[in-house]
Amino acid sequence: MEPQRRPHRICIFGGTGFVGSHLLTRLTADRHHLRVVTRNRERHHDLWVLPSLEMAEANIFDPKSLDEVLEGVDVVINLVGILNERDRGGKGFTRIHVDFPRRLVDACLSKGIRRLLHMSALGADAAYGMSHYQRTKGEGENVAHSAASIRVTSFRPSVIYGPGDSFFNRFASLLRRTPGIFPLACPQARYAPVYVGDVAEAYARAIDNSRTYGQRYDLCGPHVYTLKELVEFTAQSLGLKRKVVGLNDTLSRMQAMLLERMPGKPFSKDNYLSMQRDNVCEGPFPEVFGITPASVESIVPTYLGEQDQRAYIARLRSRRR
Ligand SMILES: NC(=O)c1ccc[n+]([C@@H]2O[C@H](COP(=O)([O-])OP(=O)(O)OC[C@H]3O[C@@H](n4cnc5c(N)ncnc54)[C@H](OP(=O)(O)O)[C@@H]3O)[C@@H](O)[C@H]2O)c1
Repeated sequence: MEPQRRPHRICIFGGTGFVGSHLLTRLTADRHHLRVVTRNRERHHDLWVLPSLEMAEANIFDPKSLDEVLEGVDVVINLVGILNERDRGGKGFTRIHVDFPRRLVDACLSKGIRRLLHMSALGADAAYGMSHYQRTKGEGENVAHSAASIRVTSFRPSVIYGPGDSFFNRFASLLRRTPGIFPLACPQARYAPVYVGDVAEAYARAIDNSRTYGQRYDLCGPHVYTLKELVEFTAQSLGLKRKVVGLNDTLSRMQAMLLERMPGKPFSKDNYLSMQRDNVCEGPFPEVFGITPASVESIVPTYLGEQDQRAYIARLRSRRR
């Protein structure tokens, strides 16, 4: 039987990003009161329209601000994460993926908050991760689970896709700008992309489900693809004729070193290192959530052609209400 859901006062860190904006829509449907913490309230005014949502501007590394935003809260969700750091060497990753969860756990303890949902990543491993991203994500996950009095659930997704994603959308934009031959680094890297709607649903169902306390869940979609297959599928969905040519390892590494010097770091050496290990799950989507995960083929073509995906998400949002 489905565990009974009751409305909570939930504080969400990282709720303004891609996953967060889908999760907020899902959680408002369960009538939770949401406090979304951001560095810049004005930049996210599209979220203000959601019912029972409060935007709080705060520096998450300032203990006083952290205390203030956690006032009156009974559930905390941490989605804060970065794929690339401004400097090199791992310090930026450590600050966001390890130091912040540590401060958050301490703040939850001092406020008596007993429920935490933490976003990690598939491949996160403090000791054996291939990249700074994976090692710091692993360390942060361990930190999140370190306090015995907090009921923690961690989520470890493969690449997440859906309207507003930065995976299929990024390749779509690169493919549009690259006529003819498309050179692709790490073409044989394997992924099992998971739909953002399924990730959001898993969070929503986990909140009151005691079976998920203390657990760490790998989340994958139903199929495994190589990166080359995913990029070819993207081109095909957009009706673009492109020849995707896989680069060998040396050229892949060189491309990473070149692109990490470009504005916005479209690809970095740390990304390259993360891709040296397959990003796929060992089992099916966790049975505890009762979700049949959607396939890439059934979702991606519905949003890839949309020019303004923020408007598309807003339309989805109004249909749900
Ligand atoms: N997308 C994927 O494919 C994927 C796969 C596996 C795991 N994950 C994990 O899922 C989480 C969400 O991913 P996403 O794709 O939604 O990311 P995103 O769109 O880049 O959003 C990141 C969020 O983190 C916050 N943030 C970033 N740097 C911050 C800082 N220095 N101080 C305070 N807040 C900061 C941002 O808040 P403001 O800008 O509003 O302050 C934003 O809401 C991350 O932890 C990521 O590692 C993502």
